[in-house]
Amino acid sequence: MSTQKITEIIQKLTDHKNVVITERGDVAIASALCAVETGTVIIPEEGGWISYQKLPQKLGLNSITVKCDHAKIDLEDLKEKSKSTHAILYQNPGGYFAEQPMQEIYEICKKNDCIVIMDVSGGIGTDLCEGRYADIMVASFRTWKLVDADVGGFISSNIFDLSKVDTLTDETSLHKILTAFHKLQKRIIMLEKMREKVIADLIEYDIVHPNDLGFVVVVNFYNDEEKQTIIKYCTNNELEYTVCPRYIRVNEDAISIELKRIKTVV
Ligand SMILES: Cc1ncc(COP(=O)(O)O)c(C=O)c1O
Repeated sequence: MSTQKITEIIQKLTDHKNVVITERGDVAIASALCAVETGTVIIPEEGGWISYQKLPQKLGLNSITVKCDHAKIDLEDLKEKSKSTHAILYQNPGGYFAEQPMQEIYEICKKNDCIVIMDVSGGIGTDLCEGRYADIMVASFRTWKLVDADVGGFISSNIFDLSKVDTLTDETSLHKILTAFHKLQKRIIMLEKMREKVIADLIEYDIVHPNDLGFVVVVNFYNDEEKQTIIKYCTNNELEYTVCPRYIRVNEDAISIELKRIKTVV
């Protein structure tokens, strides 16, 4: 019962008809890479997920990085690199804070016969989760995601047959996912409001992509004093943060304020 309900929700949000609910996000990513079969996968040089750097090799594929501007994919570099590669695996929003030019990415890749795999762990339920611009979509529903269920993920496609992908069948887990989907819109609105407030509070600092949709706030710092002041702001406001450079955010000095770690209050 839950499987059918969740599948219908994901079909609506992705506009993809083939949907499989998986044990976790990495299972969905590995299954998507299996569809690539052979060759080289492009991954972003920053703003991706850790397993982008490991899973292609594990599955017998090669990977190369595409340049990014603060976690946004550089389209000129993509034009070159997609000529000789077979797929791209990227996150939208990059690093949970950088809206990707998804239509341009898709058009460039289609010209070059490159499969587009879009990770929407931080985009599901928003305009960034646009199935027209991805051959395959994947996401995690585990802790700190938009669908905050502690378990699960999905893979979807209109063109690939997903019938061989391992499905999550545990009813308790499926129930958690369904409950988390019911809270999704509320969670998105709550996190957007928090992001607006944090950006307003830190307006004098160099916030990366302040006008993008995002669920973390990344703030560059240029000396130790700035770094410590931003950290103090986080501590005073009980906001969790991580210090960059970090592949999953940006490869430069910055504090990432991890708003998405906040639970939705019902
Ligand atoms: C963007 C993104 N994709 C995929 C994953 C992997 O998901 P899981 O931990 O459910 O395997 C994560 C995990 O944090 C993630 O942040």
